Amino acid sequence: MIKAGENLPRHIAIIMDGNGRWAKSRLMPRMFGHKAGLTRMIDLLEHAYDRGVDYVTVYALSTENLNRPKAELEGLYELIRTRFTSLLDRIFKRGIRLKILGDISLLPKDVQKTLTDAEKESEHFVGKGFNIALAYGARAEIVRAVNLAVEKGEKVTEKTFADLLYTCSQPEPDLIIRTGKEKRLSNFLLYQSAYAELYFSDKMFPEFSNEDLDEAFLDYSKRTRRFGKTDEQKKQDNK
Ligand code: FPP
Repeated sequence: MIKAGENLPRHIAIIMDGNGRWAKSRLMPRMFGHKAGLTRMIDLLEHAYDRGVDYVTVYALSTENLNRPKAELEGLYELIRTRFTSLLDRIFKRGIRLKILGDISLLPKDVQKTLTDAEKESEHFVGKGFNIALAYGARAEIVRAVNLAVEKGEKVTEKTFADLLYTCSQPEPDLIIRTGKEKRLSNFLLYQSAYAELYFSDKMFPEFSNEDLDEAFLDYSKRTRRFGKTDEQKKQDNK
């Protein structure tokens, strides 16, 4: 079993795909899948932090998802209003800071308040983070950062530009996991994932277990991350 310090990713990001198909395969409505997905998400987060991961980012709602039928969106908003915040207490008890990534002005007013209140509740925590991407699109995030730079009237470097993204001052994701069989990034963390390792699981998100996450960690631990360098250069770096 992999333990903290054993080539474990410091920041993992998860594309939680497959809730709808999982529910459909059980002849249940899509919301049944999202509810199961939310419970799975919190359990999985706790497992990741127990293993020693410092940051977890999850993709809960993309800007494209905002075009889904009204009833499904309303169901997701209701989940945020009711179950999400109470489940968050389990994360806050561990001293983990919540950050919302995305343009939450696109969400209903009361949901915005629920989310910003939850963010405030944990803003004094340092070192460990939980990011939830809601009304998020990586291209929109990059364009927003460009506009912030233009407003400041300053030329950017790769580092100062990264600080204009929602994830400012956080380490880049080391490992991006996508469940639900598809093999694409779907407009998720495009700038931050330049050197992330990618891991795809055929399992639908509600059935992606803690053991499956360990499997992903094990797979990651065997990879050689060269960041564009040669093996020999990396060996020198590690001396
Ligand atoms: C993608 O699966 C999943 C979503 C659009 C929602 C993800 C939400 C959760 C895991 C629950 C947590 C939610 C909130 C709002 C805190 P899909 O529905 O596209 O699945 P499909 O590809 O099988 O249809």
